[in-house]
Amino acid sequence: MGHLVRITTDCLLGTRMHLKDKIIIITGGCQGLGRSMAEYLAAKGAKLALVDLNQEKLDQAVAACKALGVEARSYLCNVANEEQVTQMVAQVAEDFGAIHGLINNAGILRDGLLLRVKDGEMTKMSLAQWQAVIDVNLTGVFLCTREVAAKMIELKNQGAIINISSISRAGNVGQTNYSAAKAGVAAATVTWAKELARYGIRVAGIAPGFIETEMTLGMKPEALEKMTSGIPLKRMGKPEEIAHSAAYILENDYYSGRILELDGGLRI
Ligand SMILES: NC(=O)c1ccc[n+]([C@@H]2O[C@H](COP(=O)([O-])OP(=O)(O)OC[C@H]3O[C@@H](n4cnc5c(N)ncnc54)[C@H](O)[C@@H]3O)[C@@H](O)[C@H]2O)c1
Repeated sequence: MGHLVRITTDCLLGTRMHLKDKIIIITGGCQGLGRSMAEYLAAKGAKLALVDLNQEKLDQAVAACKALGVEARSYLCNVANEEQVTQMVAQVAEDFGAIHGLINNAGILRDGLLLRVKDGEMTKMSLAQWQAVIDVNLTGVFLCTREVAAKMIELKNQGAIINISSISRAGNVGQTNYSAAKAGVAAATVTWAKELARYGIRVAGIAPGFIETEMTLGMKPEALEKMTSGIPLKRMGKPEEIAHSAAYILENDYYSGRILELDGGLRI
């Protein structure tokens, strides 16, 4: 009878990764979308490994997860540094004994036009401005995915990797570096979903539109207002709405190789 009930429930719900006690790494986990996803997943019983650059903020985020009744730990690590990423992943595996998920969320902005001519003077986007964003937003995603997937295979853990892309991956004025990195992340997501499926690892992305975080609230008020008025839903997204999508991807065992767009209907 119990067997029959299970078959019926599985047919209705499909197979599903349950988040309770799953170990999930979130990069850029101390604020904004990363912290919101951490708390959302903690509320579902997941154990969190939060990775970021600021110990004080990491401590606050870890405390917020622990207050929800789960194990959480912080890891100071620059995702663009190969040695630090390798060490961090080894440490997470040692501390928790398993890894079931990774959310590649750490990211930076260094906006500017490729070329700007003002009063007869030309300024150029510097190579440093280009490289800083590529290093964190693209190379960081590559390094974390490579190391986490390797560890998951080694430990025979199955699960999912989520890459945070952006609506800007379509190409956005003032964001040569950011758009290129986010488009790269989207393409790599499809590639890795194909390559890692045989190990039981799904890879998917989320492309947020404009979401209320420190990153966007740093924009000039007039730019913010102009941008919001162009969104069909007439408001920015909330971090919890992105977290909800991350949980959906982690839980849905048939979601892989696709980028979930969450932008209120905006097209840039
Ligand atoms: N907020 C939005 O509207 C929006 C829209 C589309 C995509 N995104 C993407 O979502 C992600 C999170 O954005 P957010 O708005 O929460 O930004 P945020 O600036 O609030 O948070 C980003 C976090 O990443 C961390 N970080 C930066 N560089 C790092 C590095 N080298 N190593 C480790 N950690 C690092 C920062 O310290 C910070 O805690 C980013 O990838 C961003 O590009 C955000």
